[in-house]
Amino acid sequence: MAKELFAGQKNNRYKIVISKAAISKKNLAPLLKEHRKTLVISDDGVPVNILNKVVAVCKPSTKVFKIILKHGEQAKSIQNFQRILNFLANNNFDRTDLIMAVGGGVVGDISGYVASSYLRGIQFIQVPTTLLAQVDSSVGGKTAINITAGKNLVGAFYNPKGVIIETSVLKNLPTREFKAGLAEVIKYALIQNKPLFSLLRLHADEILSMDPHLIEEIIYLSIQTKAKIVSKDERENGIRAILNFGHTFGHAIEAHGKYKKILHGEAVAKGMKIASKISYLEDLISKKELQEIIALLEKYGFDLSLKQYKYGELKPFIFRDKKIKKGKLNLVLLNKLSNAIVISSFEAKNLSKGLKD
Ligand SMILES: NC(=O)c1ccc[n+]([C@@H]2O[C@H](COP(=O)([O-])OP(=O)(O)OC[C@H]3O[C@@H](n4cnc5c(N)ncnc54)[C@H](O)[C@@H]3O)[C@@H](O)[C@H]2O)c1
Ligand SMILES: [Zn+2]
Repeated sequence: MAKELFAGQKNNRYKIVISKAAISKKNLAPLLKEHRKTLVISDDGVPVNILNKVVAVCKPSTKVFKIILKHGEQAKSIQNFQRILNFLANNNFDRTDLIMAVGGGVVGDISGYVASSYLRGIQFIQVPTTLLAQVDSSVGGKTAINITAGKNLVGAFYNPKGVIIETSVLKNLPTREFKAGLAEVIKYALIQNKPLFSLLRLHADEILSMDPHLIEEIIYLSIQTKAKIVSKDERENGIRAILNFGHTFGHAIEAHGKYKKILHGEAVAKGMKIASKISYLEDLISKKELQEIIALLEKYGFDLSLKQYKYGELKPFIFRDKKIKKGKLNLVLLNKLSNAIVISSFEAKNLSKGLKD
């Protein structure tokens, strides 16, 4: 059964449709009808059948142009940013035309940033095709590209016009990518969604084997949680930071492995274990709650070992985190299960203890 919800604020709301076959004329035609031209941006790792389906559904509502980037994080480059802008200009796209991102978070991020800046902003639609993009990057309005000094350092807050989530495309994802995406789903359960926590605990086998109803449900609950948090703090001045639960440590682990050894979600799973352990050490959650969290992460097959990371090696990466404000490390911890908080005063020794197995 299809599910729908809205994100964004009053004057800027957008609809998110989630279903097994969401890439349909019924869902897309109303979004396309005022746009004479549409630039579909994708990458060469996105299965061709998905792209062909999107293009077929778009016609004849709009004239379709395509740019297919080389897949990988390096696609979010200044060079590609400029290449896409020039393509738009050379094909006389004007402010009434449209951009459509068909792919994972990489495609979504660069497409959104192009949309935010071409002619000072044209509309765009997200058609996320990885689990990470479906539960995280396609919602919330953050867009970005990378520069040599670092990832996501240039970008804009810019909401899409709509998000079309076709869950059946996940069948094509490598199992490892799919599982890594589930780390973000577990994150929503831990920071604010108790029913999602129970669902994940009770139905791990069905979710791991991609039961369509459960997949639709966990995507819906994830986005609902994210949209609710973002609507209170679109520009990340406060509460939105809880979406980074496990990420300060996860990013440090990713950076330590030079972004090669471990997927983002796998690092975030370890990071969530660390943050949960610190929450326990700070007397915020009970031992039982900590054990429940670890058991859940293990149920989904995450390797939570921390042996290979020495505090001293991770520390510089932890303190380089973008979320440091005025020199203070803010930690996202759990006050109880499904209730995250941001804390800036904690026992320094708990930080190093949390990083031990
Ligand atoms: N804007 C945000 O709020 C936000 C949030 C989280 C992450 N991100 C960004 O998202 C990016 C990571 O996104 P990602 O994990 O989706 O990676 P990705 O976009 O690189 O996709 C992973 C790989 O899967 C391929 N792929 C896409 N759909 C597929 C499908 N259905 N079947 C098989 N293969 C498919 C892609 O071609 C790519 O090679 C990072 O750049 C990160 O910074 C942004
Ligand atoms: Zn993440």
